[in-house]
Amino acid sequence: MQARVTLHRDYVISPIDPRLYGGFLEHMGRAIYSGIYEPEHPTADEDGFRQDVLTLVKELAPPMVRYPGGNFVSAYNWEDGIGPRDQRPVRLDLAWHSRESNQIGIHEFADWATKAGTQMMLAVNLGSRGIDAARNFLEYVNHPGGSAWSDQRIANGRSEPWNVKLWCLGNEMDGPWQIGQKSAAEYGHLAHETGKAMKAFDRSIELVACGSSNPYMESYPSWEASVLDECYETVDYISLHMYFTNYSDHLGDYLALSEQVDQYIVSIGGVIDYIKAKKRSRKSVYICFDEWNVWYHSKERDRQVLEGDDWPFAPPILEDIYNLEDALLIGCVLNTFIRRSDRVKIACMAQLVNVIAPIMTEKGGAAWKQSIFYPLYFASRYGQGNALRLAVDSPTYEASDVGEVPYLDISAVHDESGGWVTLFIVNRHPDEALALDTEILGFERLALVEHQTLRGDDLKAVNEAGHPERIQPVPGSGLEVDTNSLQGKVAPLSYHCLRLRTS
Ligand code: AHR
Repeated sequence: MQARVTLHRDYVISPIDPRLYGGFLEHMGRAIYSGIYEPEHPTADEDGFRQDVLTLVKELAPPMVRYPGGNFVSAYNWEDGIGPRDQRPVRLDLAWHSRESNQIGIHEFADWATKAGTQMMLAVNLGSRGIDAARNFLEYVNHPGGSAWSDQRIANGRSEPWNVKLWCLGNEMDGPWQIGQKSAAEYGHLAHETGKAMKAFDRSIELVACGSSNPYMESYPSWEASVLDECYETVDYISLHMYFTNYSDHLGDYLALSEQVDQYIVSIGGVIDYIKAKKRSRKSVYICFDEWNVWYHSKERDRQVLEGDDWPFAPPILEDIYNLEDALLIGCVLNTFIRRSDRVKIACMAQLVNVIAPIMTEKGGAAWKQSIFYPLYFASRYGQGNALRLAVDSPTYEASDVGEVPYLDISAVHDESGGWVTLFIVNRHPDEALALDTEILGFERLALVEHQTLRGDDLKAVNEAGHPERIQPVPGSGLEVDTNSLQGKVAPLSYHCLRLRTS
């Protein structure tokens, strides 16, 4: 089996927005409590944050983290999370049928984000609340002082504003599971009016309108058209969400799901262009893929908690344990984002710790990296610069929902200032190596400096507390650079990150 790839340094798709590799932390499950925050943990710092988790987050280096939800935000009162901690109310969270202590609020999350070296991306509640709560929250977070809400922030111990630039206008407002679900016209109007008020405060903030909860919703994609018809001139991004499952345990179909991501991006790109033309607008709206990941391993187990009569505190829900095949799919999805980086500027893997997450913890115990940590780590570290256009000639196979899928999944990024070309490669073939012939043109000298690979004999192997390193990258081999070409064999069902020095 052979594949040919050609790329040239001048054939650029787009500069990659560093926010393509973002994360997400929602008040649900053990994401916050016993995830990032556990005052009794042996590694807890003076603020109660787990330093073992902070170390892993810093390694992953998400440029920003979306907070506080998710479904949680649609009935959240942000004021519950400010002021003296012993006076904060305990609430019943209707989204996840859990008890919320509010021991973490905006101040604590901001402190954690600073320690983690990441930016905040905040969501406002457009489910149970609306314009007023949103503008007050923005004033609290971003105004220097001399107004009621900003002075309240100062009184609560934070003198400087946080200057958060990126704001989500609600979450999944088309979903019947959402508190305060709305029709497209209702939501579009509310998003426009809320966005108008928020931008009246500061024109430089960026706003994300809710797209469909997924491309299988009945109202997709007319939801996006109606919403953008209302708020195109006010918002900067439309959100896409997608979660992947493998209930049928069909490897070929599973690894083909990234092609559905591609079609989803192309379709919504078309909707954006249609509304832009309809409005004779000069402004461009981009895609914010602010929830994506594999989510199905834990679903059956979680039913009990979510449908039960209790209101547990930080129950262990959505704790998917990821295997090698999940990591391969994640590698393909990240490649898709890079290849579509002209449309997708921001993306957040959902989520970051414990809840469908690359980082897992035991309460009182260990923290470790799941298999899916690694493709995100390589992309976030090395997928910065210009995404390069590739001419790919690969053998294909037939997948159930998407038709022909190439065995070779590849993306390429040129970091001009650092002097690197990085290739991310997945061979989807179940048992055949791929003989790869890649022409890398427009560079005087190329040297293969680093080759890391993820592979293994057991696709269902996972990392666990006692065995945190069953799946981890190892130095790759079998691919060589000669002048302007990269040649060699790519093992079946393997992921690769190749770093080439250009000078
Ligand atoms: O990430 C878990 C949940 O998935 C989020 O709360 C919601 O937005 C989506 O349905």
